[in-house]
Amino acid sequence: MGRQVDEQIAQRFPVGQRLRVLDVGMGQGTQALRLARAGHKVTGLEKDPGMLDVARAALAGEPAGIQDRVELIEGDGRETGAHFLPGSFDIVLCHGVLMYVPEPDAMLAGLARMLAPGGLLSLLVRNGDALAMRPGLDGDWSGALAAFDTTDYTNRLGLDVRADRLSGLTATLSGIGAPLQSWYGVRVFTDGTEAGEQLPPEDELERLLAAEERAGRSDPYRGVAALLHLCGVRG
Ligand SMILES: C[S@@+](CC[C@H](N)C(=O)[O-])C[C@H]1O[C@@H](n2cnc3c(N)ncnc32)[C@H](O)[C@@H]1O
Repeated sequence: MGRQVDEQIAQRFPVGQRLRVLDVGMGQGTQALRLARAGHKVTGLEKDPGMLDVARAALAGEPAGIQDRVELIEGDGRETGAHFLPGSFDIVLCHGVLMYVPEPDAMLAGLARMLAPGGLLSLLVRNGDALAMRPGLDGDWSGALAAFDTTDYTNRLGLDVRADRLSGLTATLSGIGAPLQSWYGVRVFTDGTEAGEQLPPEDELERLLAAEERAGRSDPYRGVAALLHLCGVRG
């Protein structure tokens, strides 16, 4: 993900520009801190106070110069208009959040409004076109058959959540003035990896990441990735 975001930044903004980034549903703040370390000014918006504490603790471990570039706010991504003025950001990240939002169009329109012209909306969503892959690769044939005709699924935490189809989000992004410019697959080969599983040795990890990166930008592989990374640009 980080490499894909960096690629988009390199393609769309002058080298060295300090960008204003809003990370909606930032969780423990992995991307927010990474972008702050790269020199950008980052605002994290997170609705779960426990997660916010985790992100605050991580931020407290950073040098003062980086801490000064990060603001963490408790709030709901559906209410960005209550916190920020329209056009206040160059980049809005919304990664791993749409699954939890039952009707996301209004939230997405709000996120697009937060962008300055030319700004990047980066969405990471569960791929609703490939929900049969996970049960199918597990040999759960009933689950695979049921998954073809729905965008609802139960995630690994046991929560009932939802996925998004590429065609649906492409239409939504056009409608909210941030048409899709690029998209990637994420986790083409490694969706079966459990959270907390030990990482492979460094040289193998490098090869794994290279294979994932290549598949994530190549047809037909990216179309069956577990996650889709969609990049819309504000007109
Ligand atoms: C799966 S985590 C993803 C965290 C991070 N963005 C990442 O990619 O690693 C989803 C996060 O979104 C937050 N979240 C879910 N719905 C939200 C909403 N409506 N507004 C703000 N945060 C939300 C959750 O509390 C959680 O921290």
